[in-house]
Amino acid sequence: MTNAATENSAAFKWLLSQCKTEVQHALNLWLPKVTAQPTTLHKAMRYSALSGGKYVRPLLVYATGRALGITPRALDGPACAIELIHSYSLVHDDLPAMDDDDLRRGKPTCHKAFDEATAVLVGDALQTLAFHVLASDPSILVSAAQRLRMVETLAHASGSLGMAGGQAIDLEADGKGTDFTLESLQQMHSQKTGALIRASVRLGALCDESVDEAMLARLDQYASDIGLAFQIRDDILDIEASTDILGKNQGADIARNKPTYPALLGMAGAKEKAQQLHASALENLATLGNEADPLRWISEYIVQRPS
Ligand code: IPE
Ligand code: IPE
Ligand code: MG
Ligand code: MG
Ligand code: MG
Repeated sequence: MTNAATENSAAFKWLLSQCKTEVQHALNLWLPKVTAQPTTLHKAMRYSALSGGKYVRPLLVYATGRALGITPRALDGPACAIELIHSYSLVHDDLPAMDDDDLRRGKPTCHKAFDEATAVLVGDALQTLAFHVLASDPSILVSAAQRLRMVETLAHASGSLGMAGGQAIDLEADGKGTDFTLESLQQMHSQKTGALIRASVRLGALCDESVDEAMLARLDQYASDIGLAFQIRDDILDIEASTDILGKNQGADIARNKPTYPALLGMAGAKEKAQQLHASALENLATLGNEADPLRWISEYIVQRPS
């Protein structure tokens, strides 16, 4: 690695750990205490939302906010909201009716540690808490109208035209393997994973009341590229990374004969596609200066991440 690359990677690691600490602290304050009734539900919500993911989506909120000069504290609410939706999506994704997985973030999945009904309710409650945070966090320093745009962004990204719809397409695609067009695969990935990644960037940007449409559009193009790259890397890691490193079962996609980028393009083709998306993501940041470096580092991290 060159000196600059080493410095960038050290700066990225520092930023990632700062953001993790910040969002975990904020999540801890928003999540009901385990002593509050119903205690099992609250225990399970905390088990799932504070179980140590990579926190890539909050990181995107903070990095976008930094690129636009917003104070970190004002970004805590959107960072929590997107992570809550993401955690809920994983709890439901792991259910027997969906991917039927028993390992998540190195621990038993929510329905294994608790039970299926609790896992369904954990998803419901994490999702509604996300909207509660966006609607009521006093640290979000924007007008009520702008706050509504944020709520709308999160709702659209989470619903049937976003993540939930992508998950529906994914379930229908179970067992189809290579019997799926590249266009359909891209649509599925863009919805099930891309939508929340795009929402992370947009929520960060909307914390700047004066952000203009041109900037929102550029950032959205960046986010679309890294969102697709993120799921391509997830598909690659399902084949190449060990269960230990992943914290989830390796080979889950192959076991269910899911259509994935490596299945359709081969491993080399999938990696090349991820690199192309990374290059395109950087082009969309070309008009921004050093203040957008964290966004550039995240794009690189996404296509190289080990887990
Ligand atoms: C896993 O997301 C599910 C996908 C959308 C690919 P992450 O890889 O971000 O999961 P955590 O939050 O770090 O565990
Ligand atoms: C999950 O995709 C996407 C969402 C939860 C919305 P995957 O099913 O590939 O995620 P993992 O591999 O189980 O984390
Ligand atoms: Mg899935
Ligand atoms: Mg899954
Ligand atoms: Mg996967």
